[in-house]
Order: sequence, then structure tokens, then C-alpha cells
Amino acid sequence: MSASKLFQPFQLGDITLRNRVVMAPLTQYRANDEHVHGDLAAEYYTQRAGRYAHVPGIWTDTQIAGWKKVTDAVHAKGSFIYLQLWALGHAANRDVLRREYNDPHQFLQDVSNNWADEYGGSIENRARFSLEVIEAVTKAVSQKHVGIRFSPWGTFQAIKTADEKNELFVFGRSFISNPDLPLRLKEDIPFTPYSRHTFYTPENPIGYTDYPLALRN
Ligand SMILES: Cc1cc2nc3c(=O)[nH]c(=O)nc-3n(C[C@H](O)[C@H](O)[C@H](O)COP(=O)(O)O)c2cc1C
Repeated sequence: MSASKLFQPFQLGDITLRNRVVMAPLTQYRANDEHVHGDLAAEYYTQRAGRYAHVPGIWTDTQIAGWKKVTDAVHAKGSFIYLQLWALGHAANRDVLRREYNDPHQFLQDVSNNWADEYGGSIENRARFSLEVIEAVTKAVSQKHVGIRFSPWGTFQAIKTADEKNELFVFGRSFISNPDLPLRLKEDIPFTPYSRHTFYTPENPIGYTDYPLALRN
């Protein structure tokens, strides 16, 4: 496996990736009541680096400081991390559904888009919300640092990354239960199976930071 494309470097904008193993966005409710990440998340992401309750937020100074712990730890290990701007969209509680707090998918798909104005109907109208978000975000952080994830085949939130050109290889659940996933892929070490029961257990280290490494240094 080590000679495979998986371990060839890849240029992603101005970031040089050492390999093509990518961890999928995996929200697991380990932030606190104020949506602030603490040491637990910093440990979790360090291990893997080379609006429900408890989802991490990034709109207050304390939340930003919480994320800084995570991003600093990931950068310290020579890895890179992207923030997923994430909203519940069609999965949200109806009372909190507002256009300004919404999910591009709901707008893009003809089934879920019920807007009767310039955000609904034609493909151009359904794409408008996503394009406005992309424009606002690229203005804030530059084009080089922005991507968008489409999940057109998702039935709910179970979605698969389709990378037709196979430039990068994205792993979700296996990265939860295998903090050293790139090493396991490289050395053909069997994966530890993941436990679904602990995916969404608020602020709980079990099933989050306690999955074993195949080799201890
Ligand atoms: C616990 C959990 C949390 C997830 N959270 C997100 C998320 O916040 N955003 C997202 O786009 N996908 C999320 N996903 C979907 C994953 O990114 C991935 O697409 C999915 O797990 C399928 O990949 P896999 O078969 O390698 O696990 C989540 C999946 C799981 C299991």
C-alpha cells in the first residue's frame, strides 16, 4: 500500500499535503453547553493529525479560543484542518429554521426547496444561496482556502464523498476509531472497528479519544 497513490504528496491551493488521506467532517457533540471546545477535542484532533446541543460553535470569542487549541495542536504536528461551516438545514428543529441559518442543500434540491421567491424554482434560483455563501466566505478568507462539500445522494445525513478523480481519499467513521489511520493504511494494519453508540455522546472521552494506536512510538 505504501507505494500507492495514497501516499504521494498533493498540492491543495498553497498547502502541500504529505499524503492524500483526509479525515471527513465528523461532528460528535464533544463541545460544552456553550458550544466551546476544550482539551478533549484538542487531544482528539492531535491524535488524528499527523445546532444540536454540544456541537462546537465558532461565533463567540470563547469558542474561537477553544478552536485555537485544536488548530494550534493540528498545525504543531504539521497537518492541516478546514472548518466546516455547518448548519442543520432540513434536519433542524422547525422552530429554528431561518434562511439566515440554513443549509445550502435545502436550497439546491428541488424536493426540499419550497421558496417561492428568487431562492426557489429554477436552477439559477436554487443555486443563489450557495453562491452567496461562497462569495461571502471567499471574500473573508480568500478563494484558496474555501471548498464546498456536496452530498447529492445523501438521504439524511449519511453522505459519501464522491471524488471521481481520486486525488484525495476521505475517511469518516474509520478515522474515529483509528487515530493512526494513515499508518495503518501504509503498513496494512487491520482497522479497529468503530462503535456507533459513542458517536454522539456529549463531552464523553469514551469512543472519542480512547481508541488505541497500533504501535506505541
Ligand atoms: C459521527 C459522524 C458525524 C458526522 N458529521 C458530519 C458533519 O458534521 N458534516 C458532514 O458533512 N458530514 C458528517 N458526517 C459524514 C461523514 O463526513 C462521512 O461522509 C460519512 O461518515 C461516510 O464516510 P465513511 O463511510 O468513511 O464513514 C458524519 C458522520 C459520522 C459517522
